[in-house]
Amino acid sequence: MPTTEAPTGPPVDVIESRLGAALYDPVLWVAERLGIAALRRELLAEARGAVLEIGAGTGLNLPHYPGDLNQLVLAEPGHRIGERIDLDRAPTGVPTRLERASAERLPFADASFDTVVSTFVLCTVGDPRRAVAEAARVLRPGGRLLFLEHVGAESGWRRALQRRSVRAWAAFADGCRCDRDTVGTIEAGMRIESIARGRWRGMPAVVKPLAWGRATTV
Ligand SMILES: C[S@@+](CC[C@H](N)C(=O)[O-])C[C@H]1O[C@@H](n2cnc3c(N)ncnc32)[C@H](O)[C@@H]1O
Repeated sequence: MPTTEAPTGPPVDVIESRLGAALYDPVLWVAERLGIAALRRELLAEARGAVLEIGAGTGLNLPHYPGDLNQLVLAEPGHRIGERIDLDRAPTGVPTRLERASAERLPFADASFDTVVSTFVLCTVGDPRRAVAEAARVLRPGGRLLFLEHVGAESGWRRALQRRSVRAWAAFADGCRCDRDTVGTIEAGMRIESIARGRWRGMPAVVKPLAWGRATTV
């Protein structure tokens, strides 16, 4: 349930390794060129007004934001990955800042953003339901969550593979869970307006199914 006050206190601790932070962009390099960079751009073209991005990572979304935003806040609790963000990659003229904050405990007032962005984050947060509830809380009525996430396969050999590899993958990928029903989690807290599905080309089979789209608070 949305709360009426922003939670206070330090961000939730995240699992992060120096190696994971250093390898993040190189590991994604091929996949970005095989379509993910274009997908980021298409999704983020719908960002409006004041924008909050949760789990911003190394800032791969920055160059894809429209140039007419009122403000852009990147919330990233990880020190090692966060220090790789280059705010100069944001569109010229968009006031942009970085906050050390967890998605489950956003230090922002209710109804303070028009758009929340989550790309490849709900796989990794400790409590994805809480993160979606927080996104809904900080969005203005009618505001939108733009999401791009890898999700658990519904059935078949890929589902079996994900179940078998979930612990090994989480150990390799700094806590990322490859088997989550992330679309169900978003649906439990918001209304999905549009959704598309595809494959994460250039990445291992365990994270292939992708879902992206828009959800709203009303
Ligand atoms: C797979 S990376 C995605 C980075 C970026 N969003 C992208 O699209 O490339 C997952 C990110 O979620 C962050 N993260 C982990 N736990 C988190 C939490 N509880 N709240 C917010 N972000 C979290 C990690 O530090 C990491 O930057």
